[in-house]
Amino acid sequence: MSKHIAIITGASSGIGKAFLEEIANDRGVNGATPFDEIWAVARSEDKLIEIKTLLGDDRIVPVTADLSSTEDMTRLSERLASEKPQIGLLINCAGMGMKGLVEDHPAKTLEDTIDVNCTSLAKLTRICIPYMIVRDPSRTKDKRPRIINIASSAGFLPQPGFAAYAASKAFVISFSRALYYELKDHRIIVTAICPGPVKTDFQRKATGGAQADFTGIRKYVVADPVKLAKASIKASGKGRQILVYGFSQKALHVASKIIPTSWILTIEKKMMPVEKTASEVKEDKGISGTDESAKEVNTAGGI
Ligand SMILES: NC(=O)c1ccc[n+]([C@@H]2O[C@H](COP(=O)([O-])OP(=O)(O)OC[C@H]3O[C@@H](n4cnc5c(N)ncnc54)[C@H](OP(=O)(O)O)[C@@H]3O)[C@@H](O)[C@H]2O)c1
Repeated sequence: MSKHIAIITGASSGIGKAFLEEIANDRGVNGATPFDEIWAVARSEDKLIEIKTLLGDDRIVPVTADLSSTEDMTRLSERLASEKPQIGLLINCAGMGMKGLVEDHPAKTLEDTIDVNCTSLAKLTRICIPYMIVRDPSRTKDKRPRIINIASSAGFLPQPGFAAYAASKAFVISFSRALYYELKDHRIIVTAICPGPVKTDFQRKATGGAQADFTGIRKYVVADPVKLAKASIKASGKGRQILVYGFSQKALHVASKIIPTSWILTIEKKMMPVEKTASEVKEDKGISGTDESAKEVNTAGGI
């Protein structure tokens, strides 16, 4: 019989790390079968090894891969083909975003955002599906294979100042919801997770190191990654298509459906004015760099 595995991308930090801890700690107490192996995917091998050591769980298999690299994706695909596991859980959590105006980003930043958040998520999912399909009508609901895709409430609306990221998360929501119906007959559950701001390293990276914490209205609604991971696993266990996490994000979700987008964006821009455009900052500083200026742009919408 083939081994039963879970794959978690973005497992070296933040939300993915919280997922890894939750899955490793689930030794069947919730009725789910414990996995034989948990493949923890990220670029930072040292961090993955450190987490494995910390959790003291031999089932964790660090898989060092840059998901935006075609070669690394091929390696992952070949490894699956050679080991032929049964994948019970795929959590697509790896992601990135850089704040700032599109005109100020190097084209490569936009490419990386789409590569990691959209292309790699879709490709890895496609690669994993054949190893998730099991024709066993006796399996109970909580043993059904599951895909959890980490989207964001940023995917509900376009977001000036974070345009590529918000668009990439709209892709994740749309892709996941369509896939839910495509895979229904295979009894595979696909759940899109839409949190607002979460306390991880994301904000620091997204601002090029300028802000470690969320500011403005977002600082009052920051979620805990462990609670988010627990709620996400529970939602997927219940077979839900989407989890909009937290009251504030649920309100934003409803608003995005009933209020014309242009009205929301106009109001948001007024409420959260761009303190200085990146170009103005550049002029003030007399610099031609792009990343420095991008940090000072205030953005609207979710994260
Ligand atoms: N934090 C928030 O406020 C928030 C809100 C909504 C949604 N999200 C989403 O949640 C997910 C996790 O973010 P986080 O908050 O936990 O941020 P984080 O702490 O920065 O974690 C990002 C993870 O993605 C991995 N990653 C990034 N680029 C990669 C690549 N090219 N190849 C492989 N792995 C890569 C990173 O690992 P390495 O650097 O080791 O490769 C890291 O493990 C993202 O999809 C993000 O968009 C975050």
